[in-house]
Amino acid sequence: MKSPARIAPAAATAASPAFAEVALAVKRAGKPAVKGSVKPEVEAAVGLPGPGPTMTLWLAVVLLVVLFAGGLFGYDQGVISGALPGIKATFSLSVLMVQVVTSWVTLGALLGSLAAGELGDRLGRKKTVLVAGALFTLGAVVQYFAPDVAVLVAGRLIVGAGVGVAAVGAPLYAAEVAPAGVRGRFVSGYQLAITVGIFLAYLVNAQMSSSADWRLMLGAAAMPGLALFTTALLAPESPRWLMMKKRRADAAAVTHRVQPGVAVEAQLDAIAAALHQQTKAVSWGGVFRREWRRPLMIALGLAVFQQVTGINAIIYYANQIFASAGFSTEASRMTVTTWAIGGVNVLATLIAIAFIDHVGRRRLLLVGLVGMGISLAVVGGAFRFIGPGVAGAAAARTSSAASTAGVVTVIALVVFIASFAFSLGPVTWTVINEVFPAPIRSRGVALATAANWGSAWLVSQFFLSLVKAIGSSFTFWLLTLFCVLGWIWIFYRVPETKGQTLEQIQQMWKTAP
Ligand code: BGC
Repeated sequence: MKSPARIAPAAATAASPAFAEVALAVKRAGKPAVKGSVKPEVEAAVGLPGPGPTMTLWLAVVLLVVLFAGGLFGYDQGVISGALPGIKATFSLSVLMVQVVTSWVTLGALLGSLAAGELGDRLGRKKTVLVAGALFTLGAVVQYFAPDVAVLVAGRLIVGAGVGVAAVGAPLYAAEVAPAGVRGRFVSGYQLAITVGIFLAYLVNAQMSSSADWRLMLGAAAMPGLALFTTALLAPESPRWLMMKKRRADAAAVTHRVQPGVAVEAQLDAIAAALHQQTKAVSWGGVFRREWRRPLMIALGLAVFQQVTGINAIIYYANQIFASAGFSTEASRMTVTTWAIGGVNVLATLIAIAFIDHVGRRRLLLVGLVGMGISLAVVGGAFRFIGPGVAGAAAARTSSAASTAGVVTVIALVVFIASFAFSLGPVTWTVINEVFPAPIRSRGVALATAANWGSAWLVSQFFLSLVKAIGSSFTFWLLTLFCVLGWIWIFYRVPETKGQTLEQIQQMWKTAP
């Protein structure tokens, strides 16, 4: 029998590369191609559902990088609402400047994510994360010392750029370095860290928002920013990027360190063959080529559906939604927002981490969207049939019907957040980072991330206007409609990618319709 470890080079050029070859080799030997029937190192190399890689020190470093990057993303996004009252008092801001201080992080993130597509290819994945760490730290320090509002806005823009670069660089790095069998978990770890960051920000907001400590709230991000930078310095470069740069010896050394015991040469041969199949130099325009339209549509579609189904409308406006549903004091609103939204968001993400590499991406997405759609429909119903809606917050505070609406709304929003957190939250980032072939991966991920930020901005900008124009109920029902459309689109267009190497996923676009 041909040694399975030597099969991968030829396998990678076949239609369904490594799996088919290994299956064939095993069949010849008269054994079924099931889990555990080939050597573990071969399973790991080609992405079969083997016993799972061991957690090495180097993999732990990769995980730490991802956790710091996600945590900073979440913290910076969540802390501004608590810092705003203090900033307004210090600089006596106009309404326009309040919006600028709030939203220029998103603007910076949009620019940062596009730049990261270029940086990822030119500097490498590791250095892109280093740039994100440096930007976070610099932006936090600038905000802490800001003598006037212009410098503060510059600091917001720098932090935003850090958020954008990290949002592209960190999951891409994790997806490329993590072994196939745990890739979903690694990228979901990034989402978990985002939720922990948002939760911490809620806690900090609850503790400090009445004081003028906004400098501390914003400046505190310098510490984890520095931690991200230092950890990324220690972390190994992505072997897939090294292979793109024709540095095979370095790629072999890294693969060996990160996954000792894996069939290194077989894995690198598979990567090399996949790279060889693609046209070399790819420009930004190349990302839109016909042959790569499917992964591009999948990534963009998930990025947009993740936002238009309303997650950030709920995260940003939870306080107002709860006010209109009958939570009359600021303290009660802060408590319910922190625990029902922030806490549940963290806990339910753990479900995704446990299941994403076993039950798969598709099932999580489809089940999660059902939960999101039903809960949004219920919130719409609660506002229509029990309470007066987001716009009628003041009236609601005194109405007894509002307390019924309050209970129903809290329960429904908990279901919504939990359903998002085990599905569209982590799975979107996982799939975006695994569907693109190597030559366009960095730029494709950057485009999808920018689309995600653009949609997030649109939703948060227009949510309240929409509520005013068509009322709370119809606004929530519109979000329900997006859940239904998302479900149908995912059902027909998004294939399962669990357990396959990035190179095997690349082959799917050739074979699938
Ligand atoms: C989304 C963010 C959102 C967060 C909530 C992320 O996956 O991209 O927009 O705020 O999840 O946990």
